[in-house]
Amino acid sequence: MDYVTANGATIPAIGLGTWGLKGRSCARTVEQALRAGYKLVDTAEVYENEREVGDGIRGSGLRRSEVFVTTKIWPDHLAPHELERATKASLARLRLSEVDLLLIHWPNPRIPLSETIGALCKMKKVGFARHVGVSNFTVALLDEAVKHATEPLVVNQIEWHPHLDQTKVVEACRRHGMAVTAFSPMARGAVFSEQVMRAVAAAHGKSPAQVSLRFIVQEGGVPIPRAARLDLLTENLEIFDFVLSDAEMAAIRGLARPGGRIVDWSGAPKWD
Ligand SMILES: NC(=O)c1ccc[n+]([C@@H]2O[C@H](COP(=O)([O-])OP(=O)(O)OC[C@H]3O[C@@H](n4cnc5c(N)ncnc54)[C@H](OP(=O)(O)O)[C@@H]3O)[C@@H](O)[C@H]2O)c1
Repeated sequence: MDYVTANGATIPAIGLGTWGLKGRSCARTVEQALRAGYKLVDTAEVYENEREVGDGIRGSGLRRSEVFVTTKIWPDHLAPHELERATKASLARLRLSEVDLLLIHWPNPRIPLSETIGALCKMKKVGFARHVGVSNFTVALLDEAVKHATEPLVVNQIEWHPHLDQTKVVEACRRHGMAVTAFSPMARGAVFSEQVMRAVAAAHGKSPAQVSLRFIVQEGGVPIPRAARLDLLTENLEIFDFVLSDAEMAAIRGLARPGGRIVDWSGAPKWD
């Protein structure tokens, strides 16, 4: 497994997304993924699967230190006492004493960011999280968050795939020394039918899914694709044995378009 480093954190170069995975099949998928070679599992309190993610980790037989576990706190729980309560509840469901990365899932404009970031950093200080970070933060929110942070913020987890140009926020993350985790890194399949993706995939003997993930890796991001099937889990890991050329990267970047964003809702910040 390759790794990326950011503000003192060493993060596996690809992870397993678990949104939508539930119950016993979630536990089985996590277990299979870890046995197949994944080292990072991404969950969130709102996914209602932390218990099963924890079961899958234990079922895999890997040592705790070999698995990088990320969870996220829902925006309703960003007042300091709520954030602490939600963190403890996530740890109880995961049956872990600490997570590797604790993220603010979405910003909440109704709660002062200084208070939320203060509470988040406290979760690291008291040992509930090895590292802390944010998700769905814009450039302006990132700049403000970093100002309030007493511990390094190591990640911004954002939607990122060939249909969505994230240059501005990725540059802001670099400026702050943060890594970028790419969620929905295959645009939930929407990029597979693009002629460019098919042509590049054919040239390398890979699938459009692998090209989409490889594109994120070469852009410096950490993709966290979700896959429920073992064959797809394995396929998504096999992206470190080929390199996209500069021309191929440019052609894939050219697929970005207005309206390419998938995950948007009334509570989302004003995007860059
Ligand atoms: N921070 C946030 O706000 C946020 C928001 C959204 C998602 N996320 C995280 O990011 C993860 C991934 O994003 P996502 O689930 O939205 O989208 P995604 O990973 O881009 O796409 C998942 C879909 O692609 C399919 N798939 C996976 N590998 C494939 C392959 N090799 N070939 C063909 N199809 C393949 C999956 O099949 P199956 O149906 O068989 O699994 C699933 O339907 C989530 O699970 C979650 O952990 C975070």
